[in-house]
Amino acid sequence: MEQKFLPLCRPAIEQPEIDAVIEVLKSGWITTGPKNAELENVIKAHTGAQHAVALSSATAGLHLSLVALGIGPGDEVITPSMTWVSTVNLITLVGAKPVFVDVDADTLMTTAERIESLITDKTKLIIPVHYAGAPLDLDAIYALAERYQIPLIEDAAHAIGCEYKGRPIGQTGHCIFSLHAIKNVTTAEGGIFTTNDAQLAERIRRLKFHGLGVDAFDRENQGRAPQAEVIEPGFKYNMPDLCAVLALGQMQRLTRITQQRQKLVAHYRQLLAELPGIRPLQVPEYDHQHCCHLMIIRVEPHLCGFDRDQLISQLKQLNIGAGIHFKACHSQKYYRDHYLSRFGEINPNLQNTEFNSQRICSLPLFPDMQLSDVERVVNAITHFIGTSNET
Ligand SMILES: Cc1ncc(COP(=O)(O)O)c(C=O)c1O
Repeated sequence: MEQKFLPLCRPAIEQPEIDAVIEVLKSGWITTGPKNAELENVIKAHTGAQHAVALSSATAGLHLSLVALGIGPGDEVITPSMTWVSTVNLITLVGAKPVFVDVDADTLMTTAERIESLITDKTKLIIPVHYAGAPLDLDAIYALAERYQIPLIEDAAHAIGCEYKGRPIGQTGHCIFSLHAIKNVTTAEGGIFTTNDAQLAERIRRLKFHGLGVDAFDRENQGRAPQAEVIEPGFKYNMPDLCAVLALGQMQRLTRITQQRQKLVAHYRQLLAELPGIRPLQVPEYDHQHCCHLMIIRVEPHLCGFDRDQLISQLKQLNIGAGIHFKACHSQKYYRDHYLSRFGEINPNLQNTEFNSQRICSLPLFPDMQLSDVERVVNAITHFIGTSNET
């Protein structure tokens, strides 16, 4: 009998969030308003950051950061190719050059040494990525940024609930979290920018809403002038309260959400340890709390008898979802076809990125999953190894 579809992810929405959405719907204020302010306060309390700005997505946060930091033509921004395309697209769209930095072969995170080898006098920003729920080695990367006086934006899209040396991600510097549907805490679509820089926070807040001096909620509720002025041309990247309220309940349960994910990942790791050619990402050696956002394995065809894409189709046939996080950005069609003519030679040292881009696969992981679901996935892989190696 065909088993029920096991998705790659499913949001952890519970009754309090459903009730809260209904309350917002009945309140008469469904767009940016008091629930945004509440969410920003909760994120500040959780991360320890002094400022938090809720946005329509992390992509919006990346765009606003580039604009606020004045990045444009002639500038270089160092970021991994092993990331979601939004960062690279936006760097390109503001007219700057994305300079791809390689990552560690086993954690998929970049390092201070790799970044340093690419710094030129045109480097105006570094955007490293906390990967899959593990933190970057922030001390080394911040020391480098400080030494060269180059701003840093941490791409923390995967990192809500993650800690580095006892500090929650978001406590230091400028960070962008994603609240997209797959993330550990979700507002369906959404993002949060955090910083300790009051001026930058103010600028991001202004740019997210047409460049007006105040946002719509302030104007309506706190008696500010409805004729609020455009201080500079801005965007429309605000988050509706209808979405913000979803994250409030999840933030209250964040410890439980993270622990459930950790338990599932520990089970995966234990069961996968025996399988030839199936290798979970390694975790960093420095002190950290992994928030287990993604369960990524690397598929080694010469050892298990099939490649990553064959595994994904096999899982699909068995009603099991899987994903790829990520296909290297520089291997995407636009960058294959246009990088050379727009920006010149691509960094030739992207071996770890290219190697993993062909081989990584994300397995189902979400808090409501059962340990028996993990066993189902691992049994499916084990069976596939057995049949692929039959002579
Ligand atoms: C590493 C990384 N950066 C940025 C983003 C963009 O996030 P959003 O979908 O909220 O725009 C994602 C989304 O998955 C991501 O994985």
